[in-house]
Amino acid sequence: MGNVAVIGSQWGDEGKGKIVDWLSHRADVVVRFQGGHNAGHTLVVDEVEYKLSLLPSGVVRGGKLSVIGNGVVVDPWALISEIDAVQAKGIEISPTNLVIADNACLILPLHRDLDQAREQLRGGHKIGTTGRGIGPAYEDKVGRRAIRICDLNDQQSLQLRIRELLVHHNALRRGLKIDDIKVESILSQLREISHKILPYSGSVWRILDKVQRDGRLILFEGAQGGLLDIDHGTYPFVTSSNTMASQVGAGAGIGTSAVNYVLGITKAYTTRVGSGPFPTELDNEIGKTLGERGREFGTVTGRKRRCGWFDAVLVRQMAKISGINGIALTKLDVLDGIGNLNVCTGYKINGKTFDYLPSSLVDQENAEPIYEVLDGWDESTKGARSWEELPATTVKYVRRIEELIQVPVALLSTSPEREDTILVHDPFS
Ligand code: IMP
Repeated sequence: MGNVAVIGSQWGDEGKGKIVDWLSHRADVVVRFQGGHNAGHTLVVDEVEYKLSLLPSGVVRGGKLSVIGNGVVVDPWALISEIDAVQAKGIEISPTNLVIADNACLILPLHRDLDQAREQLRGGHKIGTTGRGIGPAYEDKVGRRAIRICDLNDQQSLQLRIRELLVHHNALRRGLKIDDIKVESILSQLREISHKILPYSGSVWRILDKVQRDGRLILFEGAQGGLLDIDHGTYPFVTSSNTMASQVGAGAGIGTSAVNYVLGITKAYTTRVGSGPFPTELDNEIGKTLGERGREFGTVTGRKRRCGWFDAVLVRQMAKISGINGIALTKLDVLDGIGNLNVCTGYKINGKTFDYLPSSLVDQENAEPIYEVLDGWDESTKGARSWEELPATTVKYVRRIEELIQVPVALLSTSPEREDTILVHDPFS
C-alpha cells in the first residue's frame, strides 16, 4: 500500500473530482499542493451536491484529514465562504479535520484587480484566466513580497509586509489607471478575517511527517492539468503553478519518495477552456456534440469548453514529464454513437513530422494533427462496471490509447455516478 498523487494529464477538467472522491474513501489524508480557487469540482455524496474549489475533496467524508499545502495560493474570503457553504449542508469542518499550511501565500483583492485589468488590456490576446488573481498572487510569492498566513499573527510585521507589497502594487495600479490602495484598508480587511483562518493554520510538513510515520495513506489532489503547467504547458496560455506530480514535494512539504503512484486523469477526448493552441480542436458539429453530451462548461467560470479529438501525443508527453504510472480514462460514454473516432498520433509543422509538441508557441499554433482513425461504437457504454459490459470496439479504442500513450489504464469511468467505474488496477496497492 502506498500514497497516490492524482493529476490532470490534459488541460484540466478531466473529471478529477469523481476519481478523487472515489479514491478518497481509501485515503486517511487528502492534500492539495498547488493552484487555488481557479480549480472547481462538484461532488455528489449521498445525493447532496458540494461545489469545492479550495477545499480538498476529503472534507465531505467523515474521518479524513484535509490539508491545504503551502503550494496553494489561498484567498481567505473565498475559503471561508466555501467552508460556510459546506457546513450549511451539514458537514463539520474544524481544525481537527482541516489544516492549512501557515506558509501558504494569500490571494488578496488587489491580485484579482490586477488579473482582471491585465486581461482587459490584452484585448483579443487574452489568456482567458479565471480572473481570480491566481497569476498575480504567484508573482508576489516568487517576488518575495507575498503575505503568508503566518503573517496574520502579528499586526506590526503584517503592516510592514503590506507596505512593501503596496510599493509594488500601487506603482502597477497607477500605470493601469486603478486607484491606489492604502495600507490601512488591507490591514483592516485582513483583521476581519484573520480570526477565522488562523485556527486552521499549522505546520503541514510536520503533520505529514507524522502521518507517514503512522503508516496512514495520503491522496495528493492536483488541480488543473499538465498542459497548463507553468513550465511544461502551452506557455504563456497556462496557469501560474506547476501542475505536475513532481510539485507534490515542494507544494506539500514532503519528500518526492512519498508519492508511490501517479494517476493521470485523462478524458477520452480533449477539452480546453480559455485561449491557446489546441491542435485537435473540432470547430464543427462533432465538437458541439461532445460539448453538449459531456456538459463541457467550466465549473468556476461557466465558460463553454473547447472540444476536440483525443490527442495521444500530448497525453504521452504529460505522462513522461509527470511520471504517470496509470491513467483513469473518463467520459468514455460521451463517445457512444459518435461514429469513427480520430486519435492524434503526431503533428505536421511546416512540412516536418513531430511525435511531440515542441515548446515554441508559433510551432504549437501551426501544428496540424496526424490522425489514426479508429472504429466507433453505437452501443451505450454508460454505466458499465466491468470490461465484459463494454463493446469490443470500445475495448479496442482503450487498448490503442494505452499503446499510444505508453501507460496502462488503471480506472475507467463510464458516467458521473461514483459506482460507474471499472477498476483495472488499484492505485493504492
Ligand atoms: P488562471 O489559473 O486563472 O490564471 O488561468 C490560466 C489558464 O488556466 C486559463 O486558460 C484558465 O482557463 C485555465 N484554468 C485555470 N484553472 C483551471 C481549471 O481548474 N480547469 C481548467 N482550466 C483552468
